[in-house]
Order: sequence, then structure tokens, then C-alpha cells
Amino acid sequence: MRASFMQEITIRRPDDWHVHLRDGSVLREVVPFTARMFGRAIVMPNLVPPVTTTALAKAYRERIRAAIPAGVKFTPLMTCYLSDDTDPADLVQGFRDGVFTAAKLYPAHATTNSHFGVTSIKRIYPVLEAMAEAGIPLLAHGELTRSEVDIFDREKGFIDEVLVAVLARIPKLRIVLEHITTTEGADVVRAHADRMAATITPQHLLYNRNALFQGGLRPHMYCLPVLKRETHQLALRKAATSGEKTFFLGTDSAPHLRHLKEAACGCAGVFSAPVAIQAYLRVFDEENALDKFEAFASLNGPAFYGLQPHEERVTYRRRQPFSPAPVRIGNEGEIVSLFDGENVEWVAA
Ligand code: DOR
Ligand code: ZN
Repeated sequence: MRASFMQEITIRRPDDWHVHLRDGSVLREVVPFTARMFGRAIVMPNLVPPVTTTALAKAYRERIRAAIPAGVKFTPLMTCYLSDDTDPADLVQGFRDGVFTAAKLYPAHATTNSHFGVTSIKRIYPVLEAMAEAGIPLLAHGELTRSEVDIFDREKGFIDEVLVAVLARIPKLRIVLEHITTTEGADVVRAHADRMAATITPQHLLYNRNALFQGGLRPHMYCLPVLKRETHQLALRKAATSGEKTFFLGTDSAPHLRHLKEAACGCAGVFSAPVAIQAYLRVFDEENALDKFEAFASLNGPAFYGLQPHEERVTYRRRQPFSPAPVRIGNEGEIVSLFDGENVEWVAA
């Protein structure tokens, strides 16, 4: 499959436009991976309790900063967890004060720690209107949550039932459809490229739903939105490697302790932080599109958020394949990384 024989690639330092860093001991162990690899990251607010106010976001940002290894330059960009009770004045002020970069929509019960999420989009129309006025992007977990909706159709359903209505009702609102998993996701973003974008995770580029059941049940492949069929995977690979401005890197790295994933009712999330760049590079390499990698990883995201790309350059080289070790969390257990037991090829020079 691999057509390229490039041995190294130099790009501006990349950013991760969607990551879960958690809190406490997990935060302290996972932040260094993201901070060493990326210049900035959009940090998801689905803590317990969630990051719903400027004050909570400021305090969380301090805890993240304290976990950045000495000498590493890394900027966490904070998001506000939208709920039925979000105070638009606090959100707008937090944005103006440089605390919030965006606000995250979790439809209630869509995923991990989303039970305080939005129960009906109509309830937050005033907040969305205030965000549009202030220029605050909406980051959407785009899935319907009604239990009768087939899990593989939840993203398409969200686009048809929720997103289209929001786009029509609030023309100035800028929206990132997070971790897209379907052809329909890529298409809707392209159709509204003047004000929409999408992040794409490594796992949705590398795998399709077969990976969930390969030789048995694979809990470490389970995330939300769930992996889809191959046609969608191929559409995402095309989108990510196209260079189009609307698609950019967002790992959705989502650490959960091993015993919480390898369980009768396992948590959703793929922890990719230790190997994120390597995972994307594998995809771009296989697609013979390493020349488009900088746009996806380092340019398109900052352009959408109105930020400058980094001046600093990073070089990645092929090296002897290595396997990422699980990350120990004191006495609590360990977190299994993407590519556990497999080989990773690329490494920062
Ligand atoms: O798989 C997921 N894990 N999807 C999400 O939307 C949330 C995330 C998490 O926080 O674990
Ligand atoms: Zn996420």
C-alpha cells in the first residue's frame, strides 16, 4: 500500500484540536505526551463535574499547566461545557478574557460524562446566538442520543435533525463537527466550508468497524462516535489527506484505565496521545500524501480559529519500529495506548 519512500518530513509544529486530558493523577501522566508533541491543544471539558464556567476553566487550565514538563512550550486552549443552564454572559466574558476558545456541545447522554449535557438544542438557542455574535465557535459532538436510533446512524441523524436546523437558524455561528466518522459528516462540512470545519481522529482513519470484532471483542477500539463501515473510513482518509482547509487534526485521545475498558460495560475512548503523530503519518504515508500533512496537522486548525501557525519546525524520521508501553497511573492501574502490542514507525527527530 505504501507508495512513498520519504524517510523524513519537516512541518510546522502541529496542534491537537480535540483532546481529553482528564484531571488528577491521570492528567499528570497524560499531559506530557500531548505537550511534547503539540504546540497547542483544545482541551475537552467533560470532567466530573464538567467545566461549565470561566472560573472552573481557569482553575483547570492551571492544573494542566502544572503538569507540563519543564522546558516544554505548550498552550492548553479551554472549552466551556454547554448545559441547559449555561450562562451566556459568563461564556462571552470568558471568551473575551482569553479563557475560553470555544464551547462544546454534548447532547445529554451521548458519551462519557455527558449526563449534564444539553437535553434539547432548542434550550440553548439563546446561548448559540450569543456565541455567534461574539465569534465563539461551537464544537459539536454530533450524535443523536435517542436510544431507538441505530448507533451506526447517529451521526447522520444528528446532521439531518439538529445541525441543519442550527445552520439555518444561526447563520453567523461557526461550527466544528468533532471527530467525524461518516461520508455525510465530511460532506456537510464541505457544503458549509465558509463557517464549518471538522476534526478527524487517527482511529477513524486507520480502522473501520471490523476492528471492533477482529478475532473477538476489542474494547480498546471502542470509542464514540463508534467506528463505521469501510466506505466511511475511505471517505475520511480522502478528506484528511486532501489538504482542504475544512479538515484538521483532532486526536480525541481519551484515556481510561485498562480495567474500565476491559469490562462488561467498557468505557468509550481510544488513548492515542503517545503515538498520535505516528498514527496520522502512517495514514498520510499509505495515501502517498505526506505533502498534505502539514496542512492537516499544523495549518488548517489555526486558520479556522484565527490563530497563527507555529513558526517552529519539527522533523519526523522513520526509525526502527517500536511498541508504545502502557502508561502507569500510580496504584490505580494503567492506560493502554493505541498501537499497543504493535509497531510504530515514525518518531520526532
Ligand atoms: O470515545 C469517546 N470518549 N468519545 C467521546 O466523545 C468522549 C470520550 C471520553 O471522554 O472518554
Ligand atoms: Zn472527545
